[in-house]
Amino acid sequence: MIYGDLMLRAIKKADLFKYSAKPNPVVGAIVLKENEIISEGYHEIYGKNHAEINAIEEAKKYLGKRFKDFSELTLLCTLEPCSHVGKTGSCANFIVKTGFKKVVIGAVDPNPYVSGRGIKILEKNQIHVEVGLHADLVEKQNKFFFYKHKKNKPYVTVKIASSLDGKSHYKNKKNFITTESSRKDVQLIRANYDAILTGGNTLRIDNPKMDARVDFFVNQAKKILLTNKPYDNNSIFFKDASVDVINITNLQEIIYSYKDSEICSILVEAGPKLVNAFLQEQIVDELIVYTSKDELGENAVSWFDEDNAIENYGFKLESSYKIDTDTKEIFKRDD
Ligand SMILES: NC(=O)c1ccc[n+]([C@@H]2O[C@H](COP(=O)([O-])OP(=O)(O)OC[C@H]3O[C@@H](n4cnc5c(N)ncnc54)[C@H](OP(=O)(O)O)[C@@H]3O)[C@@H](O)[C@H]2O)c1
Repeated sequence: MIYGDLMLRAIKKADLFKYSAKPNPVVGAIVLKENEIISEGYHEIYGKNHAEINAIEEAKKYLGKRFKDFSELTLLCTLEPCSHVGKTGSCANFIVKTGFKKVVIGAVDPNPYVSGRGIKILEKNQIHVEVGLHADLVEKQNKFFFYKHKKNKPYVTVKIASSLDGKSHYKNKKNFITTESSRKDVQLIRANYDAILTGGNTLRIDNPKMDARVDFFVNQAKKILLTNKPYDNNSIFFKDASVDVINITNLQEIIYSYKDSEICSILVEAGPKLVNAFLQEQIVDELIVYTSKDELGENAVSWFDEDNAIENYGFKLESSYKIDTDTKEIFKRDD
């Protein structure tokens, strides 16, 4: 097998851990003796071993059996090994200590504080490094992670459910607008994001849990509540969750405050007030709209004041699907 095929294998297998490794990027590593795979490792769970460490620890079992010394081996990893001593120690130093003489890397880490530093540590220790193999796929696979470091802010998506006549809800009432299938789809969307944000009214009226209820393991999103008024901190929203309660109303300031955190993506699930405030600030990258086949009528609250509000906010329809009797539309910013 050539390095290109092996990199594709590592990228594909790393993807299995995208819900459990987040908000960290998914990473895969393969230890090779010429073209023979000695071991593989993946960053499986947030806070646990990085991919390179898992692959190397596995390879150690075959030392003296399938190879004599680590200097005979090549390490292939989808993302540049980290240089910083975080929760699990520096991977670049670990690779040096293990004795590798060659490392093949997919993409350079986009984090400006660490970018290129892992490679420098390897090269300073006489390790031959090749960089850039399928870098575009590694970037695509870790879209939110690369976006955050390039744009200096998390990727922000707003998700709304609308009736056919453009309404959000009846005043002070909790009601489901869309079908069960759409609501199941929302669970999958939540599973993808690092944080879920809502406003005080939605918390008080809907009493939502806003976690991802799916049948696989997810490192659940942080929750963010924007409110200046009293709320019940024993409500289900706070149960088993890490919640940031924020009482400032400047949405730019709030979103940019996450630039140095691990949060790379935020899903906004709120009512018309907060959703329109977000859209006005031009800090939303994606808008997902589920529309039901039924109308709520004149007594319900509208999502927007104008008919073409979504386009006027600068969004363009990118895709549209049918889910049961609902329509799901994805809009992206036109820039
Ligand atoms: N159809 C749907 O997809 C959907 C989704 C979610 C909710 N809803 C419905 O929406 C209703 C609530 O909607 P809503 O429009 O009244 O409230 P909202 O948009 O959920 O929340 C507005 C609240 O957010 C807080 N906030 C903080 N900064 C803000 C800012 N810069 N701009 C605006 N708000 C800010 C304030 O909380 P404080 O007042 O606490 O200070 C404000 O009252 C509920 O009935 C719920 O059922 C519908």
